[in-house]
Amino acid sequence: MKAYFITGTDTGVGKTSIMAGLAGSIHKMGIDVGIMKPIATGYSQKSGFKSGDVNKLVEAASIKDPEDLINPVFLPLPTSPYDATKLLELSIDMPLIFEQFKKLLSMHEILLVEGIGGIMTPITKNFFVADLIKGMNIETIIVTRATIGTLNHTVMTCKMCKDYGIKIRGLIINNFDEKGTPSEKNAPKTLYELTNVPILGTIPFIKDLNKIEKMVEHVSKNVDVKSLIS
Ligand SMILES: Nc1ncnc2c1ncn2[C@@H]1O[C@H](COP(=O)(O)OP(=O)(O)OP(=O)(O)O)[C@@H](O)[C@H]1O
Ligand SMILES: [Mg+2]
Repeated sequence: MKAYFITGTDTGVGKTSIMAGLAGSIHKMGIDVGIMKPIATGYSQKSGFKSGDVNKLVEAASIKDPEDLINPVFLPLPTSPYDATKLLELSIDMPLIFEQFKKLLSMHEILLVEGIGGIMTPITKNFFVADLIKGMNIETIIVTRATIGTLNHTVMTCKMCKDYGIKIRGLIINNFDEKGTPSEKNAPKTLYELTNVPILGTIPFIKDLNKIEKMVEHVSKNVDVKSLIS
């Protein structure tokens, strides 16, 4: 029973895509992998699971677990969970999230948990994604980007993890272009120098990513997945 919390330096950096790639790669290695998206917000999908993220993750690793386990909280507004609870006049059942997390942890050899937004995305006024990771007591993998601005976002994310006592397993740099701008090309080296966090891999921009199998192939090739499961 091993688990990683997949967070990012911002919303839209590629947490779901990279986690789908990791889950698919682990599944292809014949290892029983589970996925969890404890809290999702946004408009409900017309088919499959309510959360679009959950649909992608489930497809990537042929997950059979029910929605109430893998996505216990869905808030139908594209905002932070805190804003959604205020606007919809709802509250989040935190004990339920931890209960479902423990169940999934006991059901699989490895469990990947996708966060929401970044590390300081508010779930309630005083409870952030960082508190959720801390409560789950698992290591985190930070998905980041290579374009200019990433040094600031990544250093801040790592600093908050350190302040919270969250162990960072590594960074994955998404949409990396080895022929890109000087900032982009230097990102892996500079991010490592500044954070001292291992770079687990870099993933390029992938055309036609609606075929999730392409991301699985890139992650299998560019990320040392074996080191995450041993
Ligand atoms: N390497 C890539 N190549 C091409 N497109 C990508 C890549 N990574 C992510 N994308 C696209 O960028 C968008 C955002 O990615 P994704 O949904 O994985 O981000 P996220 O961090 O999970 O976002 P959210 O904060 O909404 O959960 C998606 O449309 C996805 O298909
Ligand atoms: Mg996502």
